[in-house]
Amino acid sequence: MADKKARLTVDGLDEVIELPVYSGTIGPDVIDVRPLTGKGLFTYDPGFVSTAACDSSITYIDGDKGVLLHRGYPIEQLAENSHYLEVCYLLLNGELPTKAELEKFTYTISNHTMVHEQLSQFFKGFRRDAHPMAIMCGVVGALSAFYHDSLDINNADHREVCAYRLIAKMPTLAAMCYKYSIGQPFMHPRNKLGYAENFLQMMFATPCDDYEVNPILARAMDRIFTLHADHEQNASTSTVRLAGSSGANPFACIAAGIAALWGPAHGGANEAVLSMLEEIGDEANIPEFIAKAKDPDDNFRLMGFGHRVYRNFDPRAKVMKKTCDEVLSELGIENDPLLKIAKRLEEIALEDPYFVERKLYPNVDFYSGIILKAIGIPTSMFTVIFALSRTIGWISHWNEFHSSPNRIGRPRQLYTGAEMRDYPAKK
Ligand code: CMC
Repeated sequence: MADKKARLTVDGLDEVIELPVYSGTIGPDVIDVRPLTGKGLFTYDPGFVSTAACDSSITYIDGDKGVLLHRGYPIEQLAENSHYLEVCYLLLNGELPTKAELEKFTYTISNHTMVHEQLSQFFKGFRRDAHPMAIMCGVVGALSAFYHDSLDINNADHREVCAYRLIAKMPTLAAMCYKYSIGQPFMHPRNKLGYAENFLQMMFATPCDDYEVNPILARAMDRIFTLHADHEQNASTSTVRLAGSSGANPFACIAAGIAALWGPAHGGANEAVLSMLEEIGDEANIPEFIAKAKDPDDNFRLMGFGHRVYRNFDPRAKVMKKTCDEVLSELGIENDPLLKIAKRLEEIALEDPYFVERKLYPNVDFYSGIILKAIGIPTSMFTVIFALSRTIGWISHWNEFHSSPNRIGRPRQLYTGAEMRDYPAKK
């Protein structure tokens, strides 16, 4: 219920339009602009900078304070004390699981890890040098052709099974992308392993040798999954909601999310950070790149810096930096030249007035690439790992959308094209 009102006057309209104002649990109030359509008006907000497109109880971000909460729990506490599968349960169900609930959830997920054998045929249709995100868009979309027993989006049980399948199968598909690209046989999931361990096993084991998962690297992998699990209404999540709003198949909606994530302004940034650090190559070249980033006539941006919502620091980046130090020390590569460039770049950017004035801080992707590289994951797989991690966020939002009354998403526009005109008469 709205207990406040906003009043709007518009030149040419001789009435004051009253708009309801709603308050959330925390965060800014929102003005309900829906009555404007009846007055022949739309709002204009390219990039959805000031527009709330839904209500949601999953994730809250305070960008000024650097706060990220999942179902109320701060991300730092979840990263430190919880683990990815527990966070998946939390995002999906709203509350932390009891011990028994978590055991059942873990068991269920581990029993959905295999993909239909025929799906492996899909991979063979791709060139070996295809970008793994191109393959992921294809094979995740293709899941919609396989699982016909859970497609009633209005049935909560069906939606739940879809979520289980997606959480369980994404690591299998992601690892298959990698194995395909290097010409090695696909490794089957090992259900007695933990979620992150199993992923590393499917990535790096071969049928010829025993493979032991390093627990520190498995923990770091799990933390990367956890830190990327959800981030409220970002471009890819909004895409999944919008695709879902038409009643589309859930696997196809997730494939749409993967496509939206791919770009360097969003999930593709982790790959772009590493490419940028490699291009910089030496600390001596940093000033040249900083100058390019500041040049208004140059499109170059410092990858891994800035965020639409965080105008202080990205709380995920803080945890990621700590994890990065742990991993590099475990692997004995604290003197990694790319890490040195990254640290120097961060120092310079945090002092430079251009970045300070625009509140451009390192984001989650600034350090995740360095960790993934140290673990041995190729750069082209970075965004795939982001997609794997974010799948729980996407499916939780998709489930939330379908759990309450909803309508198809349909933005309006400010039309700036030609006025109505007649097609020229035939000569
Ligand atoms: N390097 C240099 N200048 C920048 C950068 C950057 N990384 N980011 C923003 N700016 C400048 C921009 O040129 C503009 O300057 P001015 O006011 O003089 O025109 C000002 O800062 C505001 O930028 P904006 O484009 O209006 O900001 P936005 O909120 O639309 O974009 C962003 C946010 C994340 C797309 C952008 O900061 C960016 O491109 N960063 C690099 C890519 C990146 O690291 N993306 C990962 C985001 S975190 C992972 C995720 O959640 O997807």
